[in-house]
Amino acid sequence: MKLTHCIVAGLVCAGSAECQSPSGIHAEAGIEQRVEALVGRMTLDEKIGQMSQSTSMSTPLSGAIREEIRRGRWGSFLNAGSPADRAEAQRIARHESRLGIPLLFGRDVIHGYRTIFPIPLGQAASWDPELIGQAARIAASEAAREGIRWAFAPMLDVARDPRWGRIAESPGEDPYLGAAMATAIVRGFQGESLADPSSIAACAKHFAAYGAVEAGRDYNSAWVPEVLLREVYLRAFHAAADAGAASFMTSFNALNGVPASGNALLLATILRGEWKYRGMVVSDYNAIEEMIAHGYAADGADAARKALTAGVDMEMVSTDYFDHLKSLVGRGLADSKHIDDAVHNILRLKFRLGLFDESIPAPAESGVTPESLALARRLAAESAVLLQNKGGLLPLSESLGSLAAIGPLADSPIDQMGTWVMDGRPKDVETPLAALRSQLGEGRVFYAPGLRNSRDASRAGFAAALDAARRADVVVFFLGEEQILSGEARSRAFLNLPGAQDDLVAAIAALGKPMAAVIMAGRPLTFQETAARVNAVLYAFHPGSMGGPALADLLFGRGTPSGKLTATFPRTVGQVPIYYAHLNTGRPAPQDASGIPVGNPAQPEGYTSKYIDADFTPEYPFGYGLSYTRFDYSNLKLSSAFMTRTGTVTVSADIANTGNREGTEIVQLYIRDLVASVAQPVRALKGFRRVPLGPGEKSTVSFTLDAAALAFYNQHNQLVTEPGRFQVWIAPDSAHGVEGEFTLR
Ligand code: NOJ
Repeated sequence: MKLTHCIVAGLVCAGSAECQSPSGIHAEAGIEQRVEALVGRMTLDEKIGQMSQSTSMSTPLSGAIREEIRRGRWGSFLNAGSPADRAEAQRIARHESRLGIPLLFGRDVIHGYRTIFPIPLGQAASWDPELIGQAARIAASEAAREGIRWAFAPMLDVARDPRWGRIAESPGEDPYLGAAMATAIVRGFQGESLADPSSIAACAKHFAAYGAVEAGRDYNSAWVPEVLLREVYLRAFHAAADAGAASFMTSFNALNGVPASGNALLLATILRGEWKYRGMVVSDYNAIEEMIAHGYAADGADAARKALTAGVDMEMVSTDYFDHLKSLVGRGLADSKHIDDAVHNILRLKFRLGLFDESIPAPAESGVTPESLALARRLAAESAVLLQNKGGLLPLSESLGSLAAIGPLADSPIDQMGTWVMDGRPKDVETPLAALRSQLGEGRVFYAPGLRNSRDASRAGFAAALDAARRADVVVFFLGEEQILSGEARSRAFLNLPGAQDDLVAAIAALGKPMAAVIMAGRPLTFQETAARVNAVLYAFHPGSMGGPALADLLFGRGTPSGKLTATFPRTVGQVPIYYAHLNTGRPAPQDASGIPVGNPAQPEGYTSKYIDADFTPEYPFGYGLSYTRFDYSNLKLSSAFMTRTGTVTVSADIANTGNREGTEIVQLYIRDLVASVAQPVRALKGFRRVPLGPGEKSTVSFTLDAAALAFYNQHNQLVTEPGRFQVWIAPDSAHGVEGEFTLR
């Protein structure tokens, strides 16, 4: 029997003020006393007001809302008002309300504010937390300038089902990568200090397991065993708390039958108890009231009581706290200590943001800048994933005569920005068509959308597209999904390219021209028909404001694609959920297994874990992405064949650029725990690095593993390491790599 080493939980002081950067500790000294003193002066009505968040702020501010702010009816507004309205509302709160408590304005700043960066799933494909952090910093300063000091991001839901529209907002399917993104974005938003007027409070959402909604249908229920919850769904949240995320948002879903906004296991036991989190918790939009529809609360009063007791500090939009908390306290059915705790958490954040101390900034407008656009262009280029390049069609030669740009996403600023864009302006977007025209010259680019939008099923535009293609040397399609097809409430039952896009490609393929497809979408799609017809496929997700020039750069080799997928691409929707870190099963299928051989249905190797009518392997595995150059992996070495609980093992491999262009390779480290008291995935990501290499250049890349990296949750939900054998890979993706083995003693 194996010995179990228990890793003491709770050693990290997650999310507490003391957890901040050293400068933060000093900057925040005295806040607790100020909070304490203020809470002591508040009436119950004022406390409940602080716990209430509304969207209703008319432009210009109505007399009624002014009066409500004066009375302290609201602690926060979301997605509301112009910069001038917000400044005026803040003035009223600060100078005309009894206690002068400032308002906190929150907003969905999901992948940029005025400058729109790629959707989060695209950003994750860059595997570049440094750059992602810089993008978050720009978003923070643009938002803060307009009076927004709280972003409802990062979204950290592990998403393993591309039917779910919100996979677009997520870092993808992997908890390790999600944790790296969480840390980068929290630090980017919050900067060195929340009190810096260009910092905004982060909100780790949606807590928790929203990505596991059944059938990929938004708002559906999630059933996740606690061991998987902790192993997969909570890791990025824990990282966000450790990075000091100022707030958390509960999710819409019920988790194992208990809606997240009333879920004491999530909020009280894990977040506040184990992680010692002292930030603020807000519900999602109406989510407290929705506990009635879930069948978990009898009425609004019951919902308010359950949310308060579980640990939700602020209610978003629904008004159960306002309507019922006072009477619940009066009747002894709610504990006023819980109310005081919630108000402490809310006011602490307002103090930390400096809202009590700073003079109210004059209303100002943000705008894009050359620097913000340059960063957006870089991140869009790093986010694009080259999936196929038959015959080395890409990069195109600058000396090519002419190009046909065809497809509904070639010139569609709104679609290119992607989901959750409240503040980006189409006029600031440069589309691929505009970029190609400005780079190649108008006369060398023939444009025909072919379809009015991605869902258009009519062939009316095909003739013009054929005409454009006929005149050109090369055809580049810009295909995918409109913005409106991904994001919240945008689940799809089919993952194909919508409308007549495949037909458009088929019609033009008849011309026999070299063809590349750029796909801009909010999720992994299935597009085999099109992939079979074109030479090259570049997957750009929704690349944001500067997607056009970034893609033109890649198409013409002024940059080399380096992105790698962070969500597995299925061959067909019937394979979903499909993800790389699955368990082996008792009957793993051979990699080349596909269906039952005709005429021999009883063949024993048929009784393995696969499909009879489709391959069981993915179309493109997690971590996959090509380059214009080639990278070879060799010479895996381990510093020792053994690791002790307190020791480390360093794993290294040689990565060589064997092509004739420079490129950046995203080198990935995976492990497999071969025997454990809870079976472990066939592979689990434990490290990654972006490695730039010139042609012919070789580099030894090393990673150091310690026992904590080998830890997992056992059947008692304790984080443990168990001695035994571990496989290890240094790999270009989750399906390949050079391999070794070591033993933990
Ligand atoms: C609902 C969404 O689930 C959440 O992500 C968002 O932040 C809020 N609405 C506010 O818009």
